[in-house]
Amino acid sequence: MCGIVGAIAQRDVSEILLEGLSRLEYRGYDSAGICTVADGKFHCLKTIEKVQALRTEVAKAGCPGGLGIAHTRWATHGGPSVVNAHPHLTERLAMCHNGIIENYQQLKDKLQAQGYQFKSQTDTEVLLCLIDSLVKTGLDTQEAFRQALLQAEGSYALALIDREHPGDLYGARRHSPLVVGLGIGENFLASDVLALLPVTRRFIYLDDGELVHITRGSVEIFNAQGQRVEKDIAESSLDAESISKGRYRHFMQKEIFEQPQALENTAMGRLSADGIAPDAISGLAQHDLSAVDNIKIVACGTSYHAGLVGKYWLEELTGLATSVEIASEYRYRKAVVKENTLFVTISQSGETADTLACLRLAKEQGYLKTLCICNVHSSSLVRESDLSLLTRAGAEIGVASTKAFVTQLLCLLLLSLYLGEVKGTLSAPRRTQLVESIKKLPALCRDALGQDEAIRQLAQEFAGKHHCLFLGRGIMYPIALEGALKLKEISYIHAEGYAAGELKHGPIALIDKDMPVVVVAPDNALLSKLLSNIEEVRARGGLLYIFSTRSLKLKNDAHSRIFTLPDADELLQPLIFTIPLQLLSYHCAVINGTDVDQPRNLAKAVTVE
Ligand code: AGP
Repeated sequence: MCGIVGAIAQRDVSEILLEGLSRLEYRGYDSAGICTVADGKFHCLKTIEKVQALRTEVAKAGCPGGLGIAHTRWATHGGPSVVNAHPHLTERLAMCHNGIIENYQQLKDKLQAQGYQFKSQTDTEVLLCLIDSLVKTGLDTQEAFRQALLQAEGSYALALIDREHPGDLYGARRHSPLVVGLGIGENFLASDVLALLPVTRRFIYLDDGELVHITRGSVEIFNAQGQRVEKDIAESSLDAESISKGRYRHFMQKEIFEQPQALENTAMGRLSADGIAPDAISGLAQHDLSAVDNIKIVACGTSYHAGLVGKYWLEELTGLATSVEIASEYRYRKAVVKENTLFVTISQSGETADTLACLRLAKEQGYLKTLCICNVHSSSLVRESDLSLLTRAGAEIGVASTKAFVTQLLCLLLLSLYLGEVKGTLSAPRRTQLVESIKKLPALCRDALGQDEAIRQLAQEFAGKHHCLFLGRGIMYPIALEGALKLKEISYIHAEGYAAGELKHGPIALIDKDMPVVVVAPDNALLSKLLSNIEEVRARGGLLYIFSTRSLKLKNDAHSRIFTLPDADELLQPLIFTIPLQLLSYHCAVINGTDVDQPRNLAKAVTVE
């Protein structure tokens, strides 16, 4: 989704801004722009191509000045075009925006009546003109900015500059992230710390409703009423290595191979001999979970699939009734909240608009406690939840979620273990057995990664295909859903995940020699049922690609190819069987020549509805 960078320094800032934009490219975008101030004039360049093209234009035309803002845009109001790209400008002000101004049409009507004419179709230009109109009434820029925001409905992260005040940079946020980066004699703004890592490690995270006034030597933060607020400075532990591709061709590939290490990090210090260490979940000291009787999980996309797997674990290990919902559905229905229900959100970014909205709604709905499973410790979701379980996957840059997913799964398993102990549903020997299994998980995932070359060859057979089915049963059904999501989002091959038992209720009509059917078939209690479903496909001439457990010794034949994975505790199979499906979609995308790390139309953090 959109990215913002802003900088104020003694030196020219265009290189800082462009480098920041490059580091935000992973979020997904369709146009980019930059605007600096020098000698009382704006220097603004925009493109509907990549940041590299903007860099070339800046090299040619120049973008001088020690004050500037820059943006990568993911279109919401108005298609991708140079005119709609940010920064937007009036005679005196320039602004970049992430988010949506929902009442932009009413504001636009009012401004048009005052004589404002609009160059773009964006809601951002409307908000900018509103600020401009207030400046024209004699207010200083900061007060005009504050008053305009009081009239704006919706979500925003904003960076604003005034060409008459080259010593001031302004920012504000509501429901969209924005951080201030602290330098020495220079300061910065960005929608993500990754953008500013080359210039600083010290950050202030703005909260909703806050407005910041930044100069080269000072940072002042105000609440919506215009009162000063004091904020903590946080030191980021991210390093350059975490955001470089290293020896890999794509971030997604690197992140798939990082999974064993990521899982080690997730478990590190959180396991005791027969369960969970006391401080494994942040917030437990203040928020006791012994009264929990039910669990509601809410998330989007891949994180939703993690929640679906979590339901199997939670119900099996804790006996607590668990339901899982898509956040964009949950937030708009009248939900019945049962007494003593724990509300769990799952999100890699912690900024997904629908998930965040559900958390805020849940706080009004009488849930017992809120807990989030998240990869970003500074995110809104972590800050606003009672308890949190950080996935510790490290920065995930590829739009397709991989290591974030498997670490979410492990967190859900840890939560199940914890609640199983608290509720007395898990015996000490079973807990010890599970702890031992979790310790073996990184090695099992390394083993699964050993299938990479075989899957790369398999992907050649998928290259010309337009559709694909993924089948699984029980706890492997959500893994089939996730396999299908991964394949469609990065290779653009249409794919559907199905509970294999549903095959004969409709999708079996699709089976023919051109339709690959991928089956996740580990050795578990449902295997015999799944083998019957496999026969149903075989009997209709379908092409089967079966991922199975090594000890089962299934054999290749004219209709089916077998890929084997290590034997493991049944409860851990979802994590292990996810890996070959990630590899399959990765290699299909490479063969299809798609933009693997930034697939078309997708954004890494979906911060708008
Ligand atoms: C994953 O591959 C997707 N890009 C997407 O479904 C993602 O999982 C979803 O947008 C939720 O994001 P979150 O985990 O940051 O909330």
